Amino acid sequence: MRIFVITGAGVSAESGIPTFRGEDGYWRNFDPAKLATPEAFACDPKLVWQWYRERRQRIREAQPNAAHQAITKLAQYADEFLLVTQNVDDLHARAGVPAEKMVQIHGDIFVTRCSRCHFQFREEGRGGTPEPSVHCTQSGRLWSIAPTSAQREERSIAPTSAQREEIPMCPKCDELMRPGVVWFGEQLDPDKIDIVERFLARGHCDYAIVIGTTATFGYIIDWALRANASGGELIEVNPDETPLSTFATQRIHEPATIALPRLIDQICNP
Ligand code: OAD
Repeated sequence: MRIFVITGAGVSAESGIPTFRGEDGYWRNFDPAKLATPEAFACDPKLVWQWYRERRQRIREAQPNAAHQAITKLAQYADEFLLVTQNVDDLHARAGVPAEKMVQIHGDIFVTRCSRCHFQFREEGRGGTPEPSVHCTQSGRLWSIAPTSAQREERSIAPTSAQREEIPMCPKCDELMRPGVVWFGEQLDPDKIDIVERFLARGHCDYAIVIGTTATFGYIIDWALRANASGGELIEVNPDETPLSTFATQRIHEPATIALPRLIDQICNP
């Protein structure tokens, strides 16, 4: 059985992570142009980093929910499976979806990457630890993820709050580092698009399941419809209507943690 799943912020909502366009969604209270564009970062990198650090911390404190667990079960059950998530959190990974079966199409919030060169590193997102400090030398430079023993020694000195506020600088080219997410006006990673395209080109999907997304972006609608182009089921799990609703063969207007365990049981035990 071939199964294609798309998730959005709604799947993590019941883990306590705000959506973007929902009632208490980020974009109801904040202007994306001031936080999630290359221009915003150029204008006020400190503000942008502060927002992403707060989000990182919130995600660390969150736990995968029953919907994440159900999707993992589906990934194990299917002969071929691909999850495209728009979420930059790590809750699918922490619920056990293997990296090779998942594409984080909007990036990974725990990645910090140089805004000029290819240098990047990833901080572990997992549960409950405080936001790791930016590892600074006295001049405020960031160190690489694999520190030398001398660096390790210096790291054990607790950073001051001023250092925590530092904007990480690339140790290779001295440019500002930024969160490893896709901002408005930026291109998606072509390698990630390739993975999705190759999965869809390889054949018919028995199920395309779209969960907790407003399907705002054309490529999300396009992938969902193409996964369903040769028949099969297109199932939407969302308390609200979306542009995809009229194309769905089954609409489940319930929260993901209620709908998904039941739905996945039905698929895995026909
Ligand atoms: P949105 O905030 O646009 O939509 C969340 C969707 O989840 C809405 O359709 C809700 O009805 C639904 N929802 C809320 N609670 C739910 C629950 N418990 N169970 C199931 N569904 C629920 O989030 P996305 O569609 O993911 O991009 O947003 C897409 C992208 O827009 C994000 O990845 C982000 C944002 O700007 C970038 O940052 C590039």
